[in-house]
Amino acid sequence: MEKHVLGLQLPTDPRWINIAEKNIEDILVDHAYCEQKAASSCISLIIMYPENENLVAMLTPVVAEEWSHFERVLEQLTKRGMRLGFPRKDDYVDQLQKISKKGGSRDQQLVEKLLLNALIEARSCERFRLLWKEIQDAELSKFYYELMVSEAGHYKNFCRWRNRLWMKNQWRNAGAKFFYRKVRL
Ligand SMILES: [Fe+2]
Ligand SMILES: [Fe+2]
Repeated sequence: MEKHVLGLQLPTDPRWINIAEKNIEDILVDHAYCEQKAASSCISLIIMYPENENLVAMLTPVVAEEWSHFERVLEQLTKRGMRLGFPRKDDYVDQLQKISKKGGSRDQQLVEKLLLNALIEARSCERFRLLWKEIQDAELSKFYYELMVSEAGHYKNFCRWRNRLWMKNQWRNAGAKFFYRKVRL
């Protein structure tokens, strides 16, 4: 089987880049909100799991980093005379949330949330890679290269944490095996 970026099962349609290039304002606006949601999601995890000091320590700098990405996207919009506008519906995240397992222990819920975040990071990273390689605008190409590297780091972080918790729950409860059997990154 062909290997895709960060283990994603389906690659982005290669025609996406042509559409993206013709709609750079939409891409930048969607991107800005992706960064905002990434920061918000980490903040929510901190609020939900304050007792997990190591997790809080891992997430806190990610919040700052995601917010700095938001600022940088905003800068790119402003530079081009474009405006932020309102966020659009995010079908990808909505669909992922629907298939996310509900219930279970706090650790199991956290595993699901970390997996969701990892998948979102992986897709962002894959799209940024396409933009870096294909986009004609040299400044945006460089910008997307830097962000691709950063999001890949977040993806690895979330995977590492998710795998650590998953192992811990496997040891504690053999039944958890069934719960996570289908979850593979
Ligand atoms: Fe980011
Ligand atoms: Fe990220």
